[in-house]
Amino acid sequence: MSRKKLTFVIVTLMLGGLLTDVSAKTHILPDSSEANKLVVNVNQGRERISPEIYGHFAEHLGRCIYEGFWVGEDSDIPNVRGIRTDVVEALKKINIPVLRWPGGCFADEYHWKEGIGPRDKRSKMINTHWGRVTENHQFGTHEFLDLCEMLGCEAYVAGNVGSGTVEEMQDWVEYMTFDGDSEMANLRRANGREKPWRVRYFGVGNENWGCGGNMTAEYYADLYNRFQTYVRSYSGNRILKIACGPGSLNLHWMNVVMEKAARHMDAVSLHHYVRGSGNWTDKGSATRFDEKEWFVLMKNTLGVDELIAQNIQVMDKHDRRKRVAMYVDEWGTWWDAEPGTNPPFLYQQNTLRDAVSAGIFLNVFNTYCERVKMANIAQTNNVLQAMILTKGKQMIVTPTYHVFEMFKVHQGATLLPSDVFCQGYKYGREKLPSLVTSVSKDASGIVHISICNLNPNQDIKLSCMLDGLEPTKVAGRVLTAEKITDHNTFESPDVVKPTVLTGLSIEGNLIVAEIPSKSVVVLEVE
Ligand code: AHR
Repeated sequence: MSRKKLTFVIVTLMLGGLLTDVSAKTHILPDSSEANKLVVNVNQGRERISPEIYGHFAEHLGRCIYEGFWVGEDSDIPNVRGIRTDVVEALKKINIPVLRWPGGCFADEYHWKEGIGPRDKRSKMINTHWGRVTENHQFGTHEFLDLCEMLGCEAYVAGNVGSGTVEEMQDWVEYMTFDGDSEMANLRRANGREKPWRVRYFGVGNENWGCGGNMTAEYYADLYNRFQTYVRSYSGNRILKIACGPGSLNLHWMNVVMEKAARHMDAVSLHHYVRGSGNWTDKGSATRFDEKEWFVLMKNTLGVDELIAQNIQVMDKHDRRKRVAMYVDEWGTWWDAEPGTNPPFLYQQNTLRDAVSAGIFLNVFNTYCERVKMANIAQTNNVLQAMILTKGKQMIVTPTYHVFEMFKVHQGATLLPSDVFCQGYKYGREKLPSLVTSVSKDASGIVHISICNLNPNQDIKLSCMLDGLEPTKVAGRVLTAEKITDHNTFESPDVVKPTVLTGLSIEGNLIVAEIPSKSVVVLEVE
């Protein structure tokens, strides 16, 4: 390392040591300092960022499946075997790696055998969690696995523990994945699918502390051990089993489930939803908010760092070798439903605020990629923090979709250790770091730096020092907008979309970038 570089690193690290350490990697500079810096160790990456961190979740809820994916073969909306083409194409562009289905809360009241066979003969049920509407089972196992094949993504099926039986769960796995001669495999063939599907992920229950049966941790852990026994890997399909973990901070649940069942699981889930104000009955509007609500959302989003850290500590107690992965298989923002829509359908708009929050979440997941091997934003279409909104034939993508598109370069890349030293973003008496970052190196050696500027009032000049790389080329893209409330609508679908980030320079060993206020940026460095 050159002398100049060494001094830079030492001074920066000393400065950081004196300051508030908000998380393992982010340090707030004193008010007087504007020397925002990112220090990256290009040759010290060890962990791979699992592509599944960029995963998605689709539930039988509101218009996520019906209208969002499924329009039926007779629809005048372009479709392939009933699945809408525009949505599939949009999701392929973000390299969707995995899709979780059929719930959510719906999973623990779903009886899969009602969703197979000729569609006109399928029975009906009440979707009790989500508006008590009629579920007609037009979209079932065949349609879901067909969709995953169209998307080229892994399937994550969530099984029913709350109201299901062990036999039903065992049969489902056999139906989907067994290649030989058995009642279930033959039933699949009779329903038109000769070859088994690949099903990589199988969840044994969902939120069983709540909508999935209101169980105690002890009771669930025993049930998990029993149910999972019959979730078999057949015919070369190695199925990974996921236990239900806590929703937000419930370390007791994590502790008990890990203690009693860790040896029978490949992963344990964690759910985390964030909002900008109020409580569950007054979550705030998705589009009408002020800086206070912006700030609270940023603060709540940053809380995921500590939440993951605390849960990992508990996991480490029971699994020192870190064999069991953490899957954050539901996360995102949760606002009051859009006025004029059915509240239990959870349809919400999606602004620049949601995009910056998503960028923070993804940066944090990247930094924990040693344990966090999957994350699934809730939900893909028309529900909560959606990628895609549809209205009849129309389809638009949200600011959050653009973050997934920009961050896809991290999928499968190696996480690089980094420290960011940045100004604080102050609101009232509170202070957050202005910047949240993560850095990776892909297979061809290109380094990607993703940066969120949480501060809605101030652009930030950032110097990046990449120890181990003499940069020769840098390019960048930015997602921002004029107002914090800006969003895309069916009338104006491109209000928030990525553009080229100008003004980048290479100054000796440093890359210097002006990161606009309230933005998400991805830099590409060679
Ligand atoms: O994503 C909506 C709901 O949130 C899911 O059904 C449930 O698992 C969680 O509480």
